[in-house]
Amino acid sequence: MCGIYACLGNFDATNKVLEGLKRIEYRGYDSWGIATLNNKIEIEKHIGKISEVKKLHLADSDNAIGHTRWATHGGVTEKNAHPHLAKNGNFALVQNGVLENYQELKNELIKEGYKFQSETDTEVIVAMLEKDEQKIDLKKFAKVIRKMAGRNTILVLNKNGEVWAYRQGSPLIIGQGQKNNYFFSSDLASISHDATNYHVLENQEIIHFDGQKISSYQLDNLISKTINFKKMDHQALEVDKGNYAHFMLKEINEQKESLLKVLALSEKIFPKIAKKIESSRNIYVIGAGSASYAAASITNYLRSNKRNVYHIPAYDFTDFKNLFDKSDLAIVLSQSGETADTIEAVEQMKTKGVFIISVVNMPSSTLMNMADIAYPLNVGAEIGVASSKALTGHMLFGMALADYLEKQNFSFISEVTKFSKQLEDWFDDQKIMSDIKETAKILSKKQDLYILGRGQLLTSALEFALKIKEVSYLHAEGFSAGELKHGVIALIEKDTPIICLVNKENRENMLSSAHEVKARGAKVIGIATDNEEIFDIFIKLPQTEKFTNLSSIIVAQLLTYEIALIKKLDPDKPRNLAKSVTVK
Ligand code: AGP
Repeated sequence: MCGIYACLGNFDATNKVLEGLKRIEYRGYDSWGIATLNNKIEIEKHIGKISEVKKLHLADSDNAIGHTRWATHGGVTEKNAHPHLAKNGNFALVQNGVLENYQELKNELIKEGYKFQSETDTEVIVAMLEKDEQKIDLKKFAKVIRKMAGRNTILVLNKNGEVWAYRQGSPLIIGQGQKNNYFFSSDLASISHDATNYHVLENQEIIHFDGQKISSYQLDNLISKTINFKKMDHQALEVDKGNYAHFMLKEINEQKESLLKVLALSEKIFPKIAKKIESSRNIYVIGAGSASYAAASITNYLRSNKRNVYHIPAYDFTDFKNLFDKSDLAIVLSQSGETADTIEAVEQMKTKGVFIISVVNMPSSTLMNMADIAYPLNVGAEIGVASSKALTGHMLFGMALADYLEKQNFSFISEVTKFSKQLEDWFDDQKIMSDIKETAKILSKKQDLYILGRGQLLTSALEFALKIKEVSYLHAEGFSAGELKHGVIALIEKDTPIICLVNKENRENMLSSAHEVKARGAKVIGIATDNEEIFDIFIKLPQTEKFTNLSSIIVAQLLTYEIALIKKLDPDKPRNLAKSVTVK
């Protein structure tokens, strides 16, 4: 998953692209690059994060394209960074996606004498476009695209000032500026700074800019079609960190308000969802990563009054694909709305007639547009790569929907209002915050830690472990406490940290597990509303029992954030990750 940003027909295009790339850096930050067009195409590219760049070597220009990379094929090197320049210097190209048949195409080109300079799949597209030195026109562009397998979105800046773009899978948005200038970006929020109108390219849509005019073509018949630009309905999202040192800390704290924002449309949309649930044979709840854990949690809540609810991790979808038919319903969770695994699952379900309900945070995203009913998660931009407010928002959506199905009213909103107030007081409790910091100091010196949960807190334990892994790089595993005696307990040594997520519902079983690990030398860290004798360390949760699944995860978010600081890591952009996983 990478980020593409371009600016055409604008006097300070080079700088606009630099700023635009910084706004989409969360999509991948192994390396970055910008190509400008003055009397020839010039490229500057480096490994590392573009957010650290103050000044470019490139001159200003009216046309520039840029890219921030999350490496798929080929290591993190300057040679593999985009944009890639054609050998004849006629054009520069950036790509977001994976050319799945790149090896066979590359072998053919090598046989024809092409000498590759990088290890990327992207350079294969460059080689195909510059073959036989012919100028790129619609026919040639389409011919090359038709050879490409997989989800590939590309943008080509020609030295004659023309631009070609194509979308298949990874998102691409074209923005219209005030002075007949145009922008491209991989996400809508980032383009709202520069554009007043926008158009989200559909799959298999080709865009051609001839220096003056913009045209759109459908790949299958190459017939041109009008672009219906929409008014930019996003206030320029001033996504900044405010008074926080990192986006992650800001977004963790925003959960005091974001949980209520999730329910903003519940009174309007829940009745429609409920009707579909009542008339569906099976309900499948799907997501990837944290969204998959949220899907598991929602499955538990919905199962309290509907037996036929199943959780499927998006990346395991093919194992279940023969289950679906048109009498089924899918609830699809995603923060970005661009996760390839989740999109592919939805594409396959739609071929079987499955009714799709999406719960997505990013407006105008692919998954939001694919749904029969789209429920905006509405927690606001989440820039930190590790999901925080989106994850708890998804879980809360499931709790609220289950409550509505059971009671057929919206009384749950008042419970969330009360919890939000409690959360505010909890964040203000200096003793609790320093307990978290102290615990982070202890854990930062460890290699392995285990998190035990049970009932509604099992998915919290799994998400807890993911947070620790992806932000502080410690090896953490979440388990069902019941699993302990079936093998896991062999891992326990003296001072092995075992985090126990305890609430009234699972208290008895959890405390007996705590005794079992303690007897083998473990350091027991209790996360609960009330302290217990067996806990060596205790982190107090807000009193509302019903929301311990969320508050225990908020402890995980704060803990891992603190551990990252101790280890001098970047909590917003953890290594090897990106915010939107737009490749399978
Ligand atoms: C969450 O902390 C991770 N960064 C990751 O697992 C994420 O939840 C997953 O990639 C799904 O992303 P999505 O919600 O945008 O679909």
